[in-house]
Amino acid sequence: MNKKVRSDYDLVIIGSGIAGLTFALKVAEAGYRVAIFTKKDKAESNTNYAQGGIAAVTSAGDDLEKHVEDTIEAGDGLCNPEIVREILKDGPSRIQDLIEMGVSFSSLDDGRISLGKEGGHSKRRVLHVKDVTGKAIEDALLNNIAEQGVTLFEHFFAIDLITARKARKLGVKVGGSADRVMGIYLYDANKEKVITVSSPAVLLATGGAGQTYLYSTNPSIATGDGVAMASRAGLSVMNLEFIQFHPTTLHSSDGDRFLITEAVRGEGVRLIDSQGKPFLKKYHPLADLAPRDIVARAIDREMKRSGAPYVRLDTPKIKGNFPDRFPNVYQNCLSRGIDAVLNPIPVVPAAHYSCGGIPTDLDCSTKLNGLYACGEVACTGLHGANRLASNSLLEAVVMAHRGAEAVCSFLGNRKNEKFTLPEWVDGDVPASDERVVLSHNLEELKRAMWDYVGIVRSTKRLERARARLRNLEREINEYYWNAKVDLSLLEVRNLVCVAELIVRSALKRKESRGLHYTLDYPDRAEEALDTLVPPLRK
Ligand code: FAD
Ligand code: SIN
Repeated sequence: MNKKVRSDYDLVIIGSGIAGLTFALKVAEAGYRVAIFTKKDKAESNTNYAQGGIAAVTSAGDDLEKHVEDTIEAGDGLCNPEIVREILKDGPSRIQDLIEMGVSFSSLDDGRISLGKEGGHSKRRVLHVKDVTGKAIEDALLNNIAEQGVTLFEHFFAIDLITARKARKLGVKVGGSADRVMGIYLYDANKEKVITVSSPAVLLATGGAGQTYLYSTNPSIATGDGVAMASRAGLSVMNLEFIQFHPTTLHSSDGDRFLITEAVRGEGVRLIDSQGKPFLKKYHPLADLAPRDIVARAIDREMKRSGAPYVRLDTPKIKGNFPDRFPNVYQNCLSRGIDAVLNPIPVVPAAHYSCGGIPTDLDCSTKLNGLYACGEVACTGLHGANRLASNSLLEAVVMAHRGAEAVCSFLGNRKNEKFTLPEWVDGDVPASDERVVLSHNLEELKRAMWDYVGIVRSTKRLERARARLRNLEREINEYYWNAKVDLSLLEVRNLVCVAELIVRSALKRKESRGLHYTLDYPDRAEEALDTLVPPLRK
């Protein structure tokens, strides 16, 4: 792309998934100078891989209260009911926006929108584009971004926020004593150098942190950068112990975990054990369509009980035509030698979604003036202890709309505001000298998180993880402060920071609730409390 990065914008957006792109479109429409920076190719995001769809009340047999109830039930007592209602009520209008932007949701022969069903939903309410919903949404948003001339820069990695507190510490004169966002350091991966950009408002739309785990559905971009940046900028983070493990990803010996959408179970497919028997009725009255935390834990238990490396989805028994309804899943399985029409698919759980994140109000604002967060990186109170399937895309698009309005009013009298910022100082040791340390640390981190901070936890396991993370953190930080930065170093630094925040959150929760299950406190506490972990200022 033949564009030059300016040294100042009204709003800098980090991330080009559903949250960042939707937000950008709305703020740019209002006439502000908006730039989106994204660390890899523009479509590379969790959004692009979403399969099942986007939940919203769009049919006559459904209503908002049912969607609210299902969300709260899945969230295991930790959702904030007012926030749930407030976010879900905007679903139908935001779906309409997506349709107007060019998303063609799958429809029935009579022209009505086809609605899928997933775990925890009492009604069919998941709008989808076969099993490639995320790609259809990402493509439509990127087309709109291009048509409206919104500036998007690929291969720019956001390193750290520049705050007034930080600037003062580095000797820059900043008026007043309050803290606020003033800009951001970005690593230009093509030119291999760090640039400094001034902006009175920054939106973190950096997505999830699935890459903290050895096995994950998330693409490589999901390294928790936004949470790490916010923590380093002085913010507490919320409910990070609630890492959602998706129950069904294709088992493969290479460690790759391709998602098999829950919508498959919505079409009547059941999970079967090593004897070929359905087993979920033992665990929950909703059986295969129970909330995700329950299904993932049940699979974990069945695998441990039988010693089998996977359970199976009995796809030959689907009600309907598998290749037509799930072409992406079908082709992917086929390319790995499994014809899902003829044979059940071997599946295992994998890390999928971060229910916690940077706490925000209902307008995406955070506790740091000028800093906004939206999408998976944020924690609004919608998901509680376990997200209801297909509520994530919905939350991102609803919150982006609300947040964009808030940013426009925040920018009202700050348009064209430009700050004097401390310049970036790089280390002088080329990082490539010690590459092996980085890859070794990364592997160790992911394995420790998988083995000790997984579906079933205990205080001893969490302490073990913490001890290993401490070592890794010391080594990586020492390296970071001396070396010339590069992409792998920046990502590992964030991963170790987020992993530590997850473990700290998990250690704080002395109960089992939703996605956090610990052998030492197997019961749910009477009072439902959020976990806040104070900033790691490193
Ligand atoms: P993302 O879409 O992940 O976008 C994050 C962006 O930030 C990316 O562009 C990334 O490159 C960029 N970025 C990150 N860090 C930096 C940095 N330091 N500097 C610059 N750029 C950065 N949810 C549903 O509701 N329905 C589904 O059917 C569904 N299916 C899913 C299937 C899969 C396989 C996965 C992985 C997730 C699924 N989810 C689903 C969850 C949902 O897709 C995500 O939660 C949602 O898309 C997150 O959107 P986002 O905009 O917050 O983040
Ligand atoms: C899926 O398609 O099973 C994923 C849906 C989600 O994560 O909401």
